[in-house]
Amino acid sequence: MASEVSVPSLFQMGYYWEAKIFLTSVKLDIYTPLAEHPKSAIQLAAEIGADSDALTRLLHALVTIGLLKREGDHYKNIPELAEFLVKTSRFYMGELMLLQDAEWDHWGKLEEIVRTGKPTVKDNIFINHPEVGATVSRVLHRMAQRVAPALAEKIDLSVYKTLLDVGGGGGAFSIAFAKRYPHLKTTLFDLPQTLKISRENIEKEGLSDRIDLAEGNFNAGQLPAPFDVVFASDILHYQTEAENMALVQRLYDATATGGVLILKDMFIGDDNKQPGWNAIFSIHMMVYSEKGRCFQGQQIREWMKKAGFDNIIEMEKNTILAGTKGI
Ligand SMILES: C[S@@+](CC[C@H](N)C(=O)[O-])C[C@H]1O[C@@H](n2cnc3c(N)ncnc32)[C@H](O)[C@@H]1O
Repeated sequence: MASEVSVPSLFQMGYYWEAKIFLTSVKLDIYTPLAEHPKSAIQLAAEIGADSDALTRLLHALVTIGLLKREGDHYKNIPELAEFLVKTSRFYMGELMLLQDAEWDHWGKLEEIVRTGKPTVKDNIFINHPEVGATVSRVLHRMAQRVAPALAEKIDLSVYKTLLDVGGGGGAFSIAFAKRYPHLKTTLFDLPQTLKISRENIEKEGLSDRIDLAEGNFNAGQLPAPFDVVFASDILHYQTEAENMALVQRLYDATATGGVLILKDMFIGDDNKQPGWNAIFSIHMMVYSEKGRCFQGQQIREWMKKAGFDNIIEMEKNTILAGTKGI
């Protein structure tokens, strides 16, 4: 559904100040020291290394936005938000915000990109910036952990024995599938630098004997094969149409006869009148990657058909497509 834009929300959108105030508060890590107890601006400024007058003004703004509370001259966290904003919390999502903050300058080039149609970024973070890629992998893993168990419940894999998780990242989906289907033997395929994180997570879960790791580039060389289930989540939107068409063909080759390919990604709605939120995500890919974009579900069905898959179904709207490799 397209959003309804009211005049007040029009102003809020144009005045992006709140977004940058919030991102800066995460970058300054204001919330972690406040987890101990409420503090004054002077105490906090000394602790985080800031100018106390400028920080006081920022804290006032954070109170106005509703991200902090003020009691006298002390500031305190809001418990429901602290769960996500305090670094030591299990659900800390600050890294994700730091990545958004790191993109700030790229967003400033949106007009240039739209005018020229040319990317201003020239690489792939996973390949060219392993440290940023590692942070992204950790954040994505934490996010994927929230949805993976429900997905493993929803997709019935009880008749299959082997699964290949292509670009499996931190391993959230491999882990969830392994836990839900105890007879399933999984191989997680990814770049060597990402596999360090996958290995840590899989070992932590005690699943090293059920999930193998295979390193390589999914655009070059041969993928391990054959597997009853080939699963790939959130890898298509980093690549061009030509690369993805070739990749889907390689995924077909990795699928055992009678097996299934499951592609999970962020598809733009096939109905052009309602492209959905992924159309906005696609702009994020346009500003911060060289060739990333979201594709329409229909395009992906075509690649699957062309590769040889049959019975292509949409398992979850604009998110999951599955097809079988006929006998
Ligand atoms: C957005 S993450 C998705 C991770 C995981 N599948 C998920 O859904 O949470 C993309 C993954 O693809 C991997 N990747 C990117 N390019 C690759 C390539 N050419 N070959 C193999 N893996 C690649 C990255 O290392 C990363 O783990």
